[in-house]
Amino acid sequence: MKRAVYPGSFDPVTYGHLDIIKRAAEIFDVLVVSVLNNKGKTPLFSVEERVKILEEATKDIPNVQVDSFSGLLVDYAAANDIHVSVRGLRAITDFEYELQIAQTNAKLSGGKLDSVFLTTNLEYAYVSSSTVKEIASFGGDISQCVPDFVAEKVYEKYNIKK
Ligand code: PNS
Repeated sequence: MKRAVYPGSFDPVTYGHLDIIKRAAEIFDVLVVSVLNNKGKTPLFSVEERVKILEEATKDIPNVQVDSFSGLLVDYAAANDIHVSVRGLRAITDFEYELQIAQTNAKLSGGKLDSVFLTTNLEYAYVSSSTVKEIASFGGDISQCVPDFVAEKVYEKYNIKK
């Protein structure tokens, strides 16, 4: 059984993330999408909310599990017998950041956690959770970026009636 983790903030999950999830789920037997509980950030959605949203958004993909973690990814992966981390690459600007994370994880895990990159579908290459939040906060249209039920929850957070 080849298990992989797709870690991230997913605040909120976007069509870009969902594209990576669908494709990674075809490559691995089990894909664990795991939400980072990052005490240093102030997210729009709580970890519990993000987990629920991801569960709903991935309910039709049977080999996807949704979870959350705190602390180091290498410790979480080791505890769950996972040796591959999946990340999406949108553009060259993601590459330096992702390379650093991948190399850090390789070092910290003593080579036990490898990283696999999937290039984001061009259709969603411009989409990020941050821009989704910024657009929504001004009442803009995020229907091209996130599923409708996610958009509703984002607008609710900003008290915007749509
Ligand atoms: O969606 P994001 O915020 O770009 O995801 C970043 C993430 C969660 C992959 C990364 O911050 C992470 O794995 N954090 C956990 C702490 C850790 O393991 N740090 C060492 C590697 S930088």
